[in-house]
Amino acid sequence: MSASLFSPTTLGPLTLGNRLVMAPMTRNRAPGNVPNPLMARYYAERADVGLIVTEGTSPSPNGLGYPSIPGAYSSEQGAGWQLVADAVHKAGGKIFVQLMHCGRVAHPLNLPAGAEVVSSSAVAAAGQMHTPEGPKDHPVPRALRSDELPALIAELVASAKNVVAAGCDGVELHAANGYLLEQFLNPACNQRTDAYGGSAANRIRFVVEVAAAVAKAIGGERVGIRLSPYGTNGGMTSSYDGIDAQYLLLTEQLVATGIQYLHVVDHSKMGAPEVPASLKRAMRRAWPRSFILAGGYDKASASAAIVEGHADLIAFGRPVLANPGFATRLERDLKLNDPDYSTLYTPGEKGYVDYPPAR
Ligand SMILES: Cc1cc2nc3c(=O)[nH]c(=O)nc-3n(C[C@H](O)[C@H](O)[C@H](O)COP(=O)(O)O)c2cc1C
Repeated sequence: MSASLFSPTTLGPLTLGNRLVMAPMTRNRAPGNVPNPLMARYYAERADVGLIVTEGTSPSPNGLGYPSIPGAYSSEQGAGWQLVADAVHKAGGKIFVQLMHCGRVAHPLNLPAGAEVVSSSAVAAAGQMHTPEGPKDHPVPRALRSDELPALIAELVASAKNVVAAGCDGVELHAANGYLLEQFLNPACNQRTDAYGGSAANRIRFVVEVAAAVAKAIGGERVGIRLSPYGTNGGMTSSYDGIDAQYLLLTEQLVATGIQYLHVVDHSKMGAPEVPASLKRAMRRAWPRSFILAGGYDKASASAAIVEGHADLIAFGRPVLANPGFATRLERDLKLNDPDYSTLYTPGEKGYVDYPPAR
C-alpha cells in the first residue's frame, strides 16, 4: 500500500522522486538574514524527499519578524539561495522557497533599522515573542494603506524572481499560520473598511492579487500557496462565520491565477481545531492541479491519504528536520530520530546537521 507514496510524480514541469515534501520550517540559522553553506548542507541532506519547501523567507526588511531568518530581497541573499539550490540539485532534489512576510508577528527589536511592523489593521497579535531583550508583547502594527499594497506585491514578485534566478525551482506563498497574508484573510485581524476587508470576497482579494502577480512574473507552474484554515497561530481566530465558504471562494479564485499547488496544513495535532474533512475534500475537488496536505502525518496515514486520493503529495515537518535521508528511512522502515525541541531555533550546527544518519 505504501508503494505509491514512494513512486515518482510530477509537479507542473518538474519530476519528483516521490510524493514526500519537506514542510517549511523556520530554523533561525541565517545570521544577517543571508542563506549560507550550513543551510545548504542541512537541505542537501534531506533532498531525497520529492520536494523541499524551505523555511519562511522574507520578501523585505519589514517582513523579517524573527531573528536570523533568511530573506530573498537582496543580491547577497540571492547568492545564498544559489548555494542552497545548487547543493539540493546536486543531491537530486527540488526546492521551493517559502516567501513569508511576518506582518504583525514581529517586534521592532527583531527588525533592522528603518523597518516597521505592518499588518492589514492596527490590531496587535495576542501574546509575546522572543527578542534580544527577552520576551516582549507583540506591538500594535501600522495598518497598511491600500495605496501601499502594490509595493508589497512588487516586493514578493521581486523576491520570487530573485530566488528563481538563483536556481530555485519555485516559491511557496505563505498565507497560513497567522502571518501577513493570513492577517488579510482572518476577520478578527482584518478590520478594514476598504476593498480589502469587510466581506469574504474583500478579505481574499490581497492574497489572490499576490498569487496572480507572482504567477505572471515567474510562471504559475513555479508557484504554490500554503493555507491553514482553522489555525490559531499568531493569534488567529480558529473559526468564524462563513470560514468554509471563504476558503472555497479563495480556492476558486486561486485556480484562475494558474498557480501549481495548494498546500493545506491542519494544526489539530498541535492544539488547533481540526480542518473539517468536508472542507479539505471540497478544496481538493475544486483544485485542478497539485494538492498537498500537511500536519501530523506518519507513514501509514500519508500512504493512506495518497492511495485514497485525498492528496498528491504529503508534507512532513518535524520528522524531516530530525532525519537526514528521511525518505529512505521511511521507505525502508529504518529507525527515526526524535526532534530535539531545545535546539529548533538555536544558532549553529547543534540540533541542525548533527542528527545521526540512517543505520
Ligand atoms: C521548527 C518549526 C518551524 C516551522 N516553521 C514554519 C515556517 O517557517 N513556515 C510554515 O509554513 N510552517 C512552519 N512550521 C509548521 C510545519 O511546516 C508543519 O506544518 C508542522 O510542523 C506540522 O507538521 P508535522 O506534524 O509533520 O511536524 C514549522 C514547524 C516547526 C516544528
